Amino acid sequence: MSTQYYVAQSLDGYIAEADGTLDWLLSYDGDAGDDVSQATEGEYGRFFAQVGAVAMGSATYEFILAEGGGWPYQGIPSWVFSSRELAVPEGADVRFADGPVAPVHEEMSAEAGERNVWVVGGGNLASQFATEGLLDELIVTVVPVWLGDGMPTFAKRLQDKPLRLTGTRPFKNGMTELRYEVVR
Ligand SMILES: NC(=O)c1ccc[n+]([C@@H]2O[C@H](COP(=O)([O-])OP(=O)(O)OC[C@H]3O[C@@H](n4cnc5c(N)ncnc54)[C@H](OP(=O)(O)O)[C@@H]3O)[C@@H](O)[C@H]2O)c1
Repeated sequence: MSTQYYVAQSLDGYIAEADGTLDWLLSYDGDAGDDVSQATEGEYGRFFAQVGAVAMGSATYEFILAEGGGWPYQGIPSWVFSSRELAVPEGADVRFADGPVAPVHEEMSAEAGERNVWVVGGGNLASQFATEGLLDELIVTVVPVWLGDGMPTFAKRLQDKPLRLTGTRPFKNGMTELRYEVVR
């Protein structure tokens, strides 16, 4: 079981535009050619099959709801961190949390069992997991788009120990997955 921050970021380190939008990612359509790499098809499905619990901040949650595409984490217990009262989509197993992440992470890990805990984001919530030493892995898919401004992958500076690179995977569409172990 691993606690993973699995996220897509622009080449200059942003996970969303300054206004919170993700068109740069959702409508990205690159092609790096067959020689570079492997297809992205099925990658997300393989990752998600190993997930037993998810966590997200309210900004990410509200973005997902506003997209109107239905709840993407059906059947997976999902913790939303917020100090406010928010709506829950039909049939979604959403639990709200307000306060320190450590006790919630304990509850999430117990529910996830053998599977992984996915910190969906954003950078605000992911930073709290990192600060508390609760992140095991950082899996960043770098999208070759330069935004110039936006919401950062982490909202705060990480500990000074270097992350340990455990894998790189270039994809046919020009994205590259970087996998790091968080050294404690
Ligand atoms: N590119 C990607 O793969 C990716 C992944 C995830 C998210 N995103 C994008 O990133 C953007 C949001 O990122 P973000 O870093 O600004 O926000 P975020 O982490 O999603 O949400 C932050 C908000 O959550 C609430 N919160 C956070 N920690 C809390 C705690 N411990 N207890 C209670 N409430 C807490 C607070 O709001 P309240 O208390 O006011 O509710 C806080 O302002 C969105 O646009 C989203 O779409 C992109």
